[in-house]
Amino acid sequence: MQLGGARALVTGATGGIGGAIVRALHARGARLVVTGRREEQLAELRASLGEERVDLVPLDLAEPGSPARLVEAAGAVDVLVANAALPASGRVEEFTPDEIDRALDVNLRAPIQLTRAALPGMLERGRGHVVLVSSLSGKVASPRSAIYSGTKFGLRGFAAGLREDVEQSGIRVTVIFPGFVSGAGFFAESGVKLPRWVGTRTPEQVAAAVVRGVEQERAELDVAPLSLRVGTRLAELAPVTAARMQRRLGSERIADALSEAQRDKR
Ligand SMILES: NC(=O)c1ccc[n+]([C@@H]2O[C@H](COP(=O)([O-])OP(=O)(O)OC[C@H]3O[C@@H](n4cnc5c(N)ncnc54)[C@H](OP(=O)(O)O)[C@@H]3O)[C@@H](O)[C@H]2O)c1
Repeated sequence: MQLGGARALVTGATGGIGGAIVRALHARGARLVVTGRREEQLAELRASLGEERVDLVPLDLAEPGSPARLVEAAGAVDVLVANAALPASGRVEEFTPDEIDRALDVNLRAPIQLTRAALPGMLERGRGHVVLVSSLSGKVASPRSAIYSGTKFGLRGFAAGLREDVEQSGIRVTVIFPGFVSGAGFFAESGVKLPRWVGTRTPEQVAAAVVRGVEQERAELDVAPLSLRVGTRLAELAPVTAARMQRRLGSERIADALSEAQRDKR
């Protein structure tokens, strides 16, 4: 799909990666509907883009019925980018039941409900693209990632099934799998330092993958250095051995620091 003139709905637009996705789609000529809970940040984002081709719909995706309301407010959506998520890091028993529900709601239920609400219009027009922002944690789990990985693996399964059902109708489905993202976003905000050998990518590189996914009709795109992508592939083949190696390389220390720093985002 050509992005020029297309109407794109982006969730999590007030966040580090969402802002970069909005700017990249806007630069390709898309007309945007952007959402998040923080109205002031949404208004600032629109102002930074010159006020043109950007509509704001502030809303809480954890509220029942909010995805359908969002799609109704957005009008005819050509591209849906489900990017909003909570880091949901930590040991399962340290979450309250409400915190688990919120993570499932924002990270998994909302993308599925948004897709369901946007699909009839896309099918009628015979064109549409659904982009789901997952994570490498949606391919391979690590310590303290049970809830987050549960939601991000879920997106991959949802996308794979959906793709089979809509491909003949001209609808495309892309899943983006970023590794650690520096510069902005919830990993960067945590302030946690990675070992020197673990590389990162920028929000702009994630945004470029979203653009590539839509324009080149790619099913899945990783956004991470080669070492992390190869490690992920090996871990998919031999998860238990890979987990043992991860632990030896200090993954638990990093995961504990991360979940402590992200506790207020549950
Ligand atoms: N950062 C990384 O290293 C990394 C790595 C891999 C994958 N990812 C994925 O990339 C995506 C963006 O992450 P990020 O790092 O940019 O995170 P972020 O900066 O924390 O942004 C999260 C976004 O989600 C929105 N959000 C959270 N709760 C919401 C709710 N209840 N209702 C509506 N919106 C809500 C936030 O908006 P409000 O606060 O305004 O509601 C914000 O715009 C996520 O899917 C994440 O899993 C990130």
